[in-house]
Amino acid sequence: MSEFQRPRGTRDFSPEEMQKRRYVENALMTTARNFGFSEVMTPTFENTDLFIARSGPEIVDEMYEFEDKGGRRIALRPEITASVIRYYVNELQTRPKPLKLYYMGNCFRYERPQSGRYREFFQFGAEIVGSPSLSSDAEVLALASSCLRGIGLKNVKMRVGHLGILKGVFEEMKLDEIVQTDIRRLVDKRDFEELGTLAAESDISDENMDRLVDLVSLKGGAEAIGKAKEVLGRADPSLNYLSRLLERLALYGVGDAEIDLGVARGLDYYSGMVFEIDAPSLGAEKQVCGGGSYTLSEVFGGEEVFSTGFAFGFDRLMLAMENDGVDIPSAKLETYVIPVSDTARAKCILIVSELRNAGVSADIDLMGRKMGKALAYADSLNFRTAIIVGENELEDEKATVRDMASGEQESVPFAELARYFCTEL
Ligand code: HAM
Repeated sequence: MSEFQRPRGTRDFSPEEMQKRRYVENALMTTARNFGFSEVMTPTFENTDLFIARSGPEIVDEMYEFEDKGGRRIALRPEITASVIRYYVNELQTRPKPLKLYYMGNCFRYERPQSGRYREFFQFGAEIVGSPSLSSDAEVLALASSCLRGIGLKNVKMRVGHLGILKGVFEEMKLDEIVQTDIRRLVDKRDFEELGTLAAESDISDENMDRLVDLVSLKGGAEAIGKAKEVLGRADPSLNYLSRLLERLALYGVGDAEIDLGVARGLDYYSGMVFEIDAPSLGAEKQVCGGGSYTLSEVFGGEEVFSTGFAFGFDRLMLAMENDGVDIPSAKLETYVIPVSDTARAKCILIVSELRNAGVSADIDLMGRKMGKALAYADSLNFRTAIIVGENELEDEKATVRDMASGEQESVPFAELARYFCTEL
């Protein structure tokens, strides 16, 4: 084995894997474009401050962070939302609102690698910047749901919550900001044991803590909202908001979103609706998507605008699709041109060039292989047909076109090859 190994938590992707990844990426992008979103791209690294400003200590602790040769603190992006909003504040603020943006890119987090958790991973995400909350929250959830439908991943669960509900409880309990953030983090991890310890340390009464645990344990359909009102002992604007959101989602044909008041998210910038999507087949790292509404632009020096968005963990989507047996068609290359003799090579180069110019995927033997070996090679690369040209073919001015699956062969005049393959396509 070579002494040069790739860094821990990174991966190489084979041609077959890349073909599948590009297929899925394309399907996601097509759905986003159909929803009126446009693609943006931001740098892979940013000034560290961008992520320190509001993302929260969890992300900051995991950051690949270093000083560059000019003495600047630089971080490989752990996520892309902060970059998109920085870009918005710097250059896109004057554009008509709402801005509907999507992106695909690699992200870096120094986590303990395991299946579905990498140090370099990929996110496909979307953000709506600058339109009222209910409409854009619903649109973003509908996009996430349609993306999953578009790639054929059915075994998923979308859980929607609202941070305003916890906030209301925190205000009633008069908790300071640090304790609030700690509680949110423990709720996000479902670590109720540690929550109990924190309650004891922070003088939170058992009664209040029980109420909080009851609240964040509530899940289900619209009835969960009614139960939450009972636990709170009052109506709550965030609960009403969730009711209206579910109604909107029904109009979009998204009927499978579940209320989960325990969604608290690991990033600190969220302020309203929050959601996660799980693919249960993935086991421990089952969260394939996370998102919600936030305001970040004011942190980066812009005017405060309402934003909402999500990011899919692209690698986890691929794993979940594989686990669920979702079919991804393999790319068939059209034809492999085999010169049987040296004298046929010149004609074969003319043929392959003509086909390529006509938009047909065509390759040519570069190794001077004998026919049997050349056909085996073409088969291994999934070519649909082979074009064979030897002395007889040169004489007749016809190529032998072989169907790789059936082995059937037919003669096609050289002059008609391009038309033959173009009508076959
Ligand atoms: P996030 O939940 O931190 O949210 O990440 C989004 C998704 O990225 C996760 O649900 C998960 O599928 C995937 N992911 C995270 N860490 C890893 C890892 N180490 N390996 C593989 N996949 C991973 C965000 O990043 C927000 N920016 C989402 C957002 C956009 N919120 C609003 N707009």
